[in-house]
Amino acid sequence: MLSRRTFSKGLAAAPAILRAQPGALRARVKIDTERVIGDIDQKLFGNFIEHLGRCIDGGVFEEKSPLSDANGYRRDVLDAAKKLHVSILRWPGGNFSSNYHWRDGIGPRDQRPPRLEMAWGTVESNRFGTHEFLDYTEKLGAEPYICANLGTGTWEEAQRWVEYCNSAADTAMTRLRKQNGRRDPWKVTYWGLGNEIDGPWQMGHRSADDYGKFALEAAKLMKLTDPAVKLIAAGSSNFGAGSDWTGWNRTVLEYLKNHADYLSLHTYVGNPQNDYGDFLASSLELSSRIKTAEGIIDAALSGVRNRKIYIAWDEWNVWYRARGAQERGRRILEEHYNLEDALVVATFLNAFVNHAHIVKIANMAQLVNVIAPIFTNEQGLYLQTIYYPLQLFAANTKGKALELFVDCPSYKSGRFDEIPYLDVSAGFDNGALVLNVVNRHRDQPLETEFEVEDKQFSGPLEITEVNGPDIKSENNFDSVNVKPVQHSMAAQGRKLPYRFPPHSYTMLRAQLV
Ligand code: AHR
Repeated sequence: MLSRRTFSKGLAAAPAILRAQPGALRARVKIDTERVIGDIDQKLFGNFIEHLGRCIDGGVFEEKSPLSDANGYRRDVLDAAKKLHVSILRWPGGNFSSNYHWRDGIGPRDQRPPRLEMAWGTVESNRFGTHEFLDYTEKLGAEPYICANLGTGTWEEAQRWVEYCNSAADTAMTRLRKQNGRRDPWKVTYWGLGNEIDGPWQMGHRSADDYGKFALEAAKLMKLTDPAVKLIAAGSSNFGAGSDWTGWNRTVLEYLKNHADYLSLHTYVGNPQNDYGDFLASSLELSSRIKTAEGIIDAALSGVRNRKIYIAWDEWNVWYRARGAQERGRRILEEHYNLEDALVVATFLNAFVNHAHIVKIANMAQLVNVIAPIFTNEQGLYLQTIYYPLQLFAANTKGKALELFVDCPSYKSGRFDEIPYLDVSAGFDNGALVLNVVNRHRDQPLETEFEVEDKQFSGPLEITEVNGPDIKSENNFDSVNVKPVQHSMAAQGRKLPYRFPPHSYTMLRAQLV
């Protein structure tokens, strides 16, 4: 039976699924370059660094290491991060940000005060602060995104941080900045209005009403200081059973609808039951939450003229093995990723691209060592399996996100009734079509036919496949078992057949004329 759907410009939806056909596993994907979901914002391919475990100290930054430059930045990590095409980098947390007082992290490094760090149970040296972070984003070529302390911090503290970073006026704050070695303002555009304030674990946790009122006053002061800043409201992080996540977002947006530019949402997923099929379908839940959040934003903005609020999915990843109350101290949240995790990551990125009209920022949490694509020790680093899908998306998926018609077999899991084996998104930019495709099937290939409605394939088809011997294959310092493999073939005419191997993520890049 065919499921019918209506295509309407600007309205995103997951690709349509048709019934499984008997016999060989076959799929069809129809492409029409006029069916545009929205512009793909490169900030979908962002990352996050937090003062947590070995993410910053021992990851991004390792003073006295022979692998670091004179300022303490690990050169090998910076190089791997550059190759990841990090578009926007969020800092200083996470939970850490809710008790971070930024003035502790400026001035001569040796004179900065060590503080008890209560989010993750350590002592924070403050040797990596505002200047170190903003210098790092300049080296990386990434947009900085600072999350202000709306937990234990004050309105004035948030306002002065914006002034310190962005003002060109001659004030006590900007004199201090200059005294600390930075003459020109950095002009930081993206500022978070706190982190996960809905979570009882958060220092400075508040009710939605209390947060909404408090964040509104901070937002006013921050925008009065620099009207160019874009503010990201702390939406819900807590989707667990019994959490009123929609209620939190509704209330917060009621207060902030005239000031916030983005609503921040967070998701971590895992496979604790070792149920491959169900785990691989996690992005279905993500897509559903995106649609629900979009509806809440639309409702909040009804009657408000000339305002847009987008979604910043500013923490997301696979995280379940290194998780729990014992995760306190230095070597924490150090997940070792396998192939199935990389496939889930690719499906999350597909979900963001398939909702490109409303999701405009997404930050994989985090960048190094802590639930991260880059893993270091004192001698070097290796790239985890999840590095590759993010790298391929970031380097290649640009332009307009296209709404696709997908006809493929599906399966059921404990949580979901109909999970398409083929998960796909498309970016179209100046004649270049990039298709990101996950074959969720564990054992069987998917014989797929792509058909372009309004153009033709012409020229080489570049193929990059991320796969490995087994869904549990991992990389480590000595061996790379999961990695991208490239090849190419010719593509001519309206149709293109392609066979996607089991448990694979493939990026196809073609020219359309
Ligand atoms: O990324 C790890 C932690 O997860 C962050 O500090 C917090 O915001 C989230 O709960």
